[in-house]
Amino acid sequence: MAARDSFIAVAAHELRNPMTPMVGQIELLLSGVKAGRYTPQQIEQRLERIQSLMLHYIKRSATLLDVSRITSGNLKLAPASCDLILVVKEVIETYAEATRHAGVSIKLDLPSSLSGTWDQLALEQIIDNLMSNAIKYGEGGPIEVGVIDLGNTICLRIRDQGPGISLDDRARIFDRFERAVGVDSRHSGFGVGLWLVRQLTEAMGGTISVETGLGVGSVFSVVLPRHGTATPT
Ligand SMILES: Nc1ncnc2c1ncn2[C@@H]1O[C@H](COP(=O)(O)OP(=O)(O)OP(=O)(O)O)[C@@H](O)[C@H]1O
Ligand SMILES: [Mg+2]
Repeated sequence: MAARDSFIAVAAHELRNPMTPMVGQIELLLSGVKAGRYTPQQIEQRLERIQSLMLHYIKRSATLLDVSRITSGNLKLAPASCDLILVVKEVIETYAEATRHAGVSIKLDLPSSLSGTWDQLALEQIIDNLMSNAIKYGEGGPIEVGVIDLGNTICLRIRDQGPGISLDDRARIFDRFERAVGVDSRHSGFGVGLWLVRQLTEAMGGTISVETGLGVGSVFSVVLPRHGTATPT
C-alpha cells in the first residue's frame, strides 16, 4: 500500500512537472513572435523543443496506462507484421532533441530491416524505456543500440557507459516501484519502467537480462520470438 501511495504521488508529480516548462516555452515563443524578435529558424527550434516535451509527456501517460492495464490484468497484445528496425529508429528519433541537448552520441548497429510479428506498441514501450534509462543514467556517455537476427528469435541490446548496477540492486530493479539505492533527485522516475519492460517482454514470450557491474556501464538485452502470439481472450 505504501508503495502504491508513493507511486500515485510520483505519478502526479511527473505529470504536472513538465507542464510548467511547456507553458513557459510557449509564452516565450508567443511574446517573441508578437514582438517580431525571432527568425523563422529560431521559431522552428523553439517549436521542436515544445514538440519534444509534449511527446515525452504523452509517453509518460502511456506508461501509466500500461501499468494500470497490466496490474488489472487487462493487457491485450495485438501482434501484427512489422519491421523492428523501423520501430527502433522511430523511437530513437523521438530522443534526437534530448540527446543533442545533452551531447549524448547514439551508435546504431542495425540490419537494414527485420520483419516479424509483434505488438508494435509493446515494442515501442520496451525500446523507449530502455533508451530513457540509458540516457537518464548513462551520465552523458555514448549509447549503443544493436539488433541481432537470430532466426527464430531476435535480440535487442542497449548499452550505456553509466555507473552500472550493483548485484543487490540487480535483483530488484525489474520489480514494480523499485529503484536502485543511490538514485538521487537528479533522476526522477516512477520505478516502473523495467517492470513494464519485463512484463511486456514476457507477455510476448521473450526474456530480458542485464549485464552490468559498478563502474562498467550496463547492457540490457531483450530476446523475443520472431513471431509473437496474440493474448488468449
Ligand atoms: N541503464 C541503467 N544504468 C544504471 N541504473 C539503471 C539503469 N536502468 C535502470 N537503472 C536503475 O534501475 C531502477 C529501475 O529502473 P526503472 O526504469 O524501472 O525505473 P526509473 O527509471 O527509476 O523510473 P521510470 O518508471 O520512470 O522509468 C532505476 O531507478 C535505476 O536505479
Ligand atoms: Mg526508467
